[in-house]
Amino acid sequence: MTRRKQIYEGKAKVLFEGPEPGTLVQYFKDDASANNNQKKGTITGKGVLNNRISEYLMTKLGEIGVPTHFVRRLNMREQLIREVEIIPLEIIVRNVAAGSISKRLGIPEGTTLPRSIVEFCYKADELGDPFVSEEHITAFGWATPQELDEIMSLSLRINDFLCGLFLGVGIRLIDFKLEFGRYYNQNDEMSIILADEISPDSCRLWDVRTNDKMDKDRFRKDLGGVAEAYQEVAQRLGILPESGPRDMPGPKVMQ
Ligand code: TMP
Repeated sequence: MTRRKQIYEGKAKVLFEGPEPGTLVQYFKDDASANNNQKKGTITGKGVLNNRISEYLMTKLGEIGVPTHFVRRLNMREQLIREVEIIPLEIIVRNVAAGSISKRLGIPEGTTLPRSIVEFCYKADELGDPFVSEEHITAFGWATPQELDEIMSLSLRINDFLCGLFLGVGIRLIDFKLEFGRYYNQNDEMSIILADEISPDSCRLWDVRTNDKMDKDRFRKDLGGVAEAYQEVAQRLGILPESGPRDMPGPKVMQ
């Protein structure tokens, strides 16, 4: 058997060469890191859950016309994706103050923001993914003004859709991080598509009733019950790993 060629290894995922040109296989690990890699650990079963959750959310986004890199899930930990040229930005969308915005601007965690706010970080581990402005992005050529417009408008559309989807299952979408890439079709025409993953690793998700954290903050803050929280998100969305109960009826709507 030939070994697949590894293209890239990140903190939580590995990318392998795909079965056809222009495709990759995205493998979800159980590894977790936080605070710019200062804290490291393993969350058993996280990769399986994130693979399923990201598949579900990207598929739903595809259904409303948001272009994504997701093609299909291959197995418990892997999905087939379209190869893109990653734009070196993390797009953060915030609805409620938490994490770094609370720290930087002194806004108490849990304060609803006057409107959804989009922020950008430059993807550079050695610099700790610093915050950057649109000026930096266009001046240094990380994205063109047109690409940035497209990224902003897709991000806000994704936020609107995901807020509603999560609220329907009793979860508040506090904030999340997105990554986009340039996809070239067979005619070499370029479009901006959603890449990476959307999962409790990259979102803040709070229970509507109790404000309990159901995301990676449980790992960052040593709150315990990390895998259980990810499992609960999957359960509420009506999806579970193949090894879980098979009679899930679909999303559990909260009144
Ligand atoms: P922050 O409050 O630490 O800036 O994070 C905002 C959101 O973005 C939060 O849901 C976590 C997510 N995020 C990532 O997924 N990866 C990152 O590298 C960063 C900085 C944030």
